Amino acid sequence: MDVSVIGCGYVGLVTGTCLASIGHMVRGVEKDPKRLKTLLDGHCPIFEPGLHELMQEHFASGQLQFTDNIKAAVKDAEVIFLCVGTPSRPDGMVDMSYLETAGKEVCDSLAEQSVDYMITIVVKSTVPAGTNRRLYDFLKQQTRAYVQVVSNPEFLREGSAVKDCMEPDRIVVGGESPEAFRIMRRLYDPLIKREEIFMTMNWESAELTKYAANAMLASRISFMNEMTILCEGYGADIEDVRKGIGSDGRIGPAFLRAGCGFGGSCFPKDVAALEHISRAVGHENLFVNTIQTINQNQKKRFVERIEEKLGRPLAGAKIAVWGLAFKADTDDIRESPALDIIRHLLDKGVIVKATDPKAMENMKPVFKDEVEWSADPVSCAAGADAVALLTDWPQYNTLPFRKIAATMNSPILFDGRNCLHRDIMREAGFQYYPMGRPAVENALRLKHRV
Ligand SMILES: NC(=O)c1ccc[n+]([C@@H]2O[C@H](COP(=O)([O-])OP(=O)(O)OC[C@H]3O[C@@H](n4cnc5c(N)ncnc54)[C@H](O)[C@@H]3O)[C@@H](O)[C@H]2O)c1
Repeated sequence: MDVSVIGCGYVGLVTGTCLASIGHMVRGVEKDPKRLKTLLDGHCPIFEPGLHELMQEHFASGQLQFTDNIKAAVKDAEVIFLCVGTPSRPDGMVDMSYLETAGKEVCDSLAEQSVDYMITIVVKSTVPAGTNRRLYDFLKQQTRAYVQVVSNPEFLREGSAVKDCMEPDRIVVGGESPEAFRIMRRLYDPLIKREEIFMTMNWESAELTKYAANAMLASRISFMNEMTILCEGYGADIEDVRKGIGSDGRIGPAFLRAGCGFGGSCFPKDVAALEHISRAVGHENLFVNTIQTINQNQKKRFVERIEEKLGRPLAGAKIAVWGLAFKADTDDIRESPALDIIRHLLDKGVIVKATDPKAMENMKPVFKDEVEWSADPVSCAAGADAVALLTDWPQYNTLPFRKIAATMNSPILFDGRNCLHRDIMREAGFQYYPMGRPAVENALRLKHRV
């Protein structure tokens, strides 16, 4: 099928590339000139495992094309995906401006062509309930083209986006047109291994499914983060509690890892949006409000722990931050806990050095020369009073900890992701503070006691 994808960010680029790989002819439209140039040069503007190779293969064959010309891209398209950002406004409401602009541009382009087949507009962006219905009404009023609108929320996870797209748990399609449902079923056919994963429902149910899924996952993390306080208070181990409850078939093991807070481009904004969507129907949603409060508190608690255990005032202390991305296997720093934690540390007068294998270039414009940037965790930790580990990059597990401890001013490590091994840290001579787990409090071999 002829497919256009408006917006070539994490979702649009992965969606477009995967659709090209299953045989569709895909044209990606990208407004950002820098991103478009990277795409036209055959490079992938984001780090996402497996995406670069797949994108290059289908770009080289011509199956996947890129342009900034929406009219050319929309011409002949049977299916048009809207994959633009829907970020949070400062008050937590969804900023719909990108979607409104893209919708208007598609509408203007459709107005200029006369085709005798149905065009399906697919809203992949995460949008408040009621958006698809409004878009449909708008298009009906503004164009004579035969259009249908479906909501098709995206559930991919950054870090495993290609796999998630190629092997979906479910494909949710919301709308009112059986004909549009059939088009979507045909579009996704090669990915549908079991019929029940293709789910159709009305627009609002599909829109709310996306918000509910993210709020549910975020709530599990916040619940476990709240439990770390009890574990620390009573001498329990959150990892044992996690295994103990995750093995219960009614609960399941996913999204139960405690840490210094969740981030990313979706959870914080979607939970905040759900609070606003609730208010729009006159409901004060205390549940989602609490998810956010716990998340904010957890980041503050992480800094307070450093302050309490460092053994010297924070002002003037040197702290090495390992990990800036909101999670491993991505270069995405949107709403990353590192943003708030580094800001808290800087406000307290800490000298921050930071490193990340993929996300450093994205973070540099945020803190500029307020932070010293290190190429790797070993040089980052040299001379530091403590390390704060904020992203669970697997390579951090196999670092030469004994050597690192020897180069630090004081070998203290605060593990905001509970990803290191206590025994290894003990053997390396570290004072080690995970979250909600018993600490390793070796005798410190301070080189320069303050
Ligand atoms: N990133 C994720 O993990 C994820 C997962 C599920 C759902 N979502 C949702 O998908 C949507 C997109 O998210 P994303 O992370 O891909 O955003 P993004 O910011 O990475 O990408 C959006 C892209 O759209 C481009 N764009 C904006 N307006 C345009 C226009 N009029 N024409 C052409 N290009 C335009 C931007 O330049 C940008 O490259 C959001 O609603 C988000 O909530 C994201």
